[in-house]
Formats: sequence, structure tokens, C-alpha cells
Amino acid sequence: MSTNTTDNARKVTTIRLSEMKQRGEKIAMLTAYDYSLARLVDEAGIDVILVGDSASNVMIGNPTTLPITLDQMIYHAKCVTNGTKRALVVCDMPFGSYQGNSKEALSSAIRIMKESGAEAVKIEGGSEIRESIERILTAGIPVMGHLGLTPQSINKFGTYNVRAKNEAEAAKLLEDAKMLEEIGCFALVLEKIPAKLAKQVAESISIPVIGIGAGSGVDGQVLVLQDMLGINKGFSPKFLRRYADLATVIDDAITSYISDVKSVDFPNENEQY
Ligand code: KIV
Repeated sequence: MSTNTTDNARKVTTIRLSEMKQRGEKIAMLTAYDYSLARLVDEAGIDVILVGDSASNVMIGNPTTLPITLDQMIYHAKCVTNGTKRALVVCDMPFGSYQGNSKEALSSAIRIMKESGAEAVKIEGGSEIRESIERILTAGIPVMGHLGLTPQSINKFGTYNVRAKNEAEAAKLLEDAKMLEEIGCFALVLEKIPAKLAKQVAESISIPVIGIGAGSGVDGQVLVLQDMLGINKGFSPKFLRRYADLATVIDDAITSYISDVKSVDFPNENEQY
């Protein structure tokens, strides 16, 4: 077995992600929400699997990420950890599970870790939720921050447009990123912000910065699995690269199945007992 293969088989930890940033190796992260796809994603060699609250849109069909509950996130995260051996599994803290107070935030994070087997949590926001993040960190739970476009605040901003385009918002984002590093977050997601600002943030802090719609100057990338596989064809932001057209593959397969059943071509003699 080559050194490289041995290294690829090693479990990914928050410490390994930090080492990857130090040696300039990019981090590949994808979402997953169920056992079967998590297993495929893990076996393909992804570094981090995010059980995103995008499950609210992708798995449940809600128009926003707000309705998904802590119980539903724990269910999806448990499905994913059951299918994952190597990747680090990070679970989003859903809207309403951490904003009330830091005690509530800690008990939500503890439930996620205990009941799902996830290895870290991700939380949207900066200085407003500092106390909650600090309290979660005191329990030894690794926290990934999330700044820029924070979909749980859609009702405050009104759109999913690019964030931090003006100087004041960019300065606050940089300040929040430094604060998240200082209090002990192990990584940071930057969503839909100018590439120049994302690069500046990645160069200003030592923890890995993972971007989505944040350009190539960061330490890694994340995409929603169903979007990059072409299952969800109704969502086409500029930052999305489609690596497959599974909607067409699935449609072709199901159309053929229906036709075979109707014409009694399926099952044939070899497909019965
Ligand atoms: O919920 C999610 O999928 C996310 C990613 C888009 C970063 O937070």
C-alpha cells in the first residue's frame, strides 16, 4: 500500500483539517442527509460531510431552512454517521436551537453529538451568538462557523443575494471571522461573498475557510450534493458546477421501468423463482 493510500484511509479529524490548511492542501466538503448517499460520498474520499440544514429544502421540500427541527436534523445526521467511516461529519444546528440563550445552545449541541454521532456542529452567525458558541466549545464540541449569506436569516435580509459587498458589511465579516478563530472554532464556512474578501479572510486567519460561492482563494469548497449531482435542476446559481445529470438518468430509468412493467417485459424468466 502506498503512503498516499494509507493517508487517504485515515479518519479525518479537525486536527487533520488544520494540517491540510498549513500545507496548502484544499479541503473537499459535500452535504449528505441519508445513509446510502453518505456511504457513496465517504467511499469516494470526501474530507468532510456536512449534514446541512439545507435538508429542509432538499429532503423535506420546505421553501427555506427555517422549519427543520432539531429532531429532524438528528435523524438525518444519524443516517449519515451510519454510512460514514472516514470523513469528518459536521451537523448544522437548526434555526431556533441556539439563538435563545447559551444554555439552550449547549443542550442542543449535546443532543446532536450524543444522539447522532456527528463529530462537530456548524452554527450561522458572528458576534450576536458568541456566547452560545463559547458555551458549546466548553463542552469539548468542535464548532464550525458560518458567515456571509446565512440562510436562516432570510427574513431579515429578504434575498439570497451576494453578501458583504459594501465596506461596512465586509469589515464586520472580517472582524467576526477573527473572533470565531480567537474563541476556538476549528473552521469557517463563507457563503456567497465576493471572492476577494473571502481570500482576505482565509489569509487573515489560521483555521480552514471553506467556501460556497466565495471563489478559489479559500482553503476548501462545499456544495449541496443534490445540486452538484444534477438531481435538483431548479436551482442554478452562478457558483454551482454540475458534475452529473442524475435527474435525466433517474427519469430515463424510471420511464424504462414503467414501460417494461406495462408491456410485461419485466420480470422475464431469469428474474423470477
Ligand atoms: O445547509 C447547508 O447545506 C449549508 C451549506 C450550503 C454550507 O450550510
